Amino acid sequence: MMTTLKHAALRALLVTCLIMPAAASAATSDEALARQLGQQMQQEDVVREEAILAERAHLLKIIREVESDGTKRATAIAEGADRSLLCSSCHGRDGNSKQPETPNLAGQHPAYLLEQLQLFATGQRKNFVMESLATNFSATDKVNLAIYFSSMPVLPVEFDAGLASRGQRIYDSTCFMCHAKDGKSAEGFARIAGQRPEYVSKTLQRYRANAQGKSNPDDMKRTNPRMEQVTQNLSDEDIRTLAHYVASLR
Ligand code: HEC
Ligand code: HEC
Repeated sequence: MMTTLKHAALRALLVTCLIMPAAASAATSDEALARQLGQQMQQEDVVREEAILAERAHLLKIIREVESDGTKRATAIAEGADRSLLCSSCHGRDGNSKQPETPNLAGQHPAYLLEQLQLFATGQRKNFVMESLATNFSATDKVNLAIYFSSMPVLPVEFDAGLASRGQRIYDSTCFMCHAKDGKSAEGFARIAGQRPEYVSKTLQRYRANAQGKSNPDDMKRTNPRMEQVTQNLSDEDIRTLAHYVASLR
């Protein structure tokens, strides 16, 4: 649809320039230049996006290979544990978060961990510390950290049982489709079971703010078309109860 529209516009512009050369004023050539630059940038975006996907696929393949070899897996876990010192003050040494608004990495799917590190590195997801850390990881670091954290068990967190039981209705009608009934989600989606309620709540609010086009300070940016669609009509109360229900999942 978009491409057809763009082609039509381009054709119209070409026709104007060819049929009415005299009318092809300075303004039109500026317009053509801007259009050309716009197209070039879009092409660069596509190339960049493809490179990101290719890198993720490549790292996932390495992860599969390492995970299917007992010795390699043990080495990766040991090296990941070593690197995890850098993460421990916020995410906990074993990936069970120490701060209310910081996510657990324990038990998380490797594909999701890699994806989010890439989003921080490219600035598509904003967090000052994570952005600077993610740009400095080597491929081996990413693989080892993903294998290490995904192998760690998730410890129970505190939640309000009353709020949690009220959150179940919406969860079971919508969220389960991608995150599964137990919040452990299929590979490719975020495992959300046992995340701290404060983090879940903040995250849902950020998606919703984006969906509603509300001012969302750039350093808080978190965009995802699926999650934006799902959260756009949630009330504050829905978000609060959902957050406690997600935290209660084991
Ligand atoms: C100073 C605190 C801090 C340190 C140190 C830190 N992180 Fe984070 N990390 C955060 C916060 C806060 C978030 C959540 C950001 C947000 O809300 O978008 C986060 C998010 C993440 C996420 C996304 C998880 C999800 O569920 O979406 C990954 C992956 C991650 N960090 C990996 C790491 C790794 C690996 C290290 C160590 C090498 C590390 N972080 C060190 C604070 C930290
Ligand atoms: C159509 C699929 C889909 C549905 C339905 C869905 N999600 Fe998600 N969810 C995703 C995807 C994909 C992501 C990762 C988004 C990203 O990269 O920011 C995600 C991310 C999340 C995160 C962030 C996880 C983290 O570690 O940062 C939370 C929390 C979450 N979803 C909760 C929910 C809740 C609660 C519902 C129901 C109201 C829901 N989701 C419904 C697909 C879905």
